[in-house]
Amino acid sequence: MSDFGDGSEYRDGRDRAQVTEATVSGPERLCALADVPDGGAFGVEAPVHGAVEALLLLRRGEEVRAFLNVCPHAGRRLDWAPDRFIVSEGTVVCAAHGASFTIPSGECVGGPCRGAQLRAVAVLVRDGDVFAA
Ligand code: FES
Repeated sequence: MSDFGDGSEYRDGRDRAQVTEATVSGPERLCALADVPDGGAFGVEAPVHGAVEALLLLRRGEEVRAFLNVCPHAGRRLDWAPDRFIVSEGTVVCAAHGASFTIPSGECVGGPCRGAQLRAVAVLVRDGDVFAA
């Protein structure tokens, strides 16, 4: 029960130190850097503004950028099967109508939405892992 005299326990019996640690934990880990092929693409799901979204991670060397897995042409997913992407000549290619997006910038450089941009989601790479920022 309550033990606020020494600050070690909440009214419901939870240990105060454990609750504080959970509250201040860092950003969500999405995957290992090694999961994202260098020069390629990898799919994950992660909460974005309170909703779980499919993300596309693009990697060049140590740089990883993340985007919503939504093509700016017609709003379809870019993958041909869940989290399986077509990668060709430094681009990821939308499986629906062939728009190609530069890795890792996400700029469309060919196809029906040339000049458009995938919608970016902030991520960071730290200690060999990729985190939502
Ligand atoms: S939906 Fe991607 S190219 Fe049309």
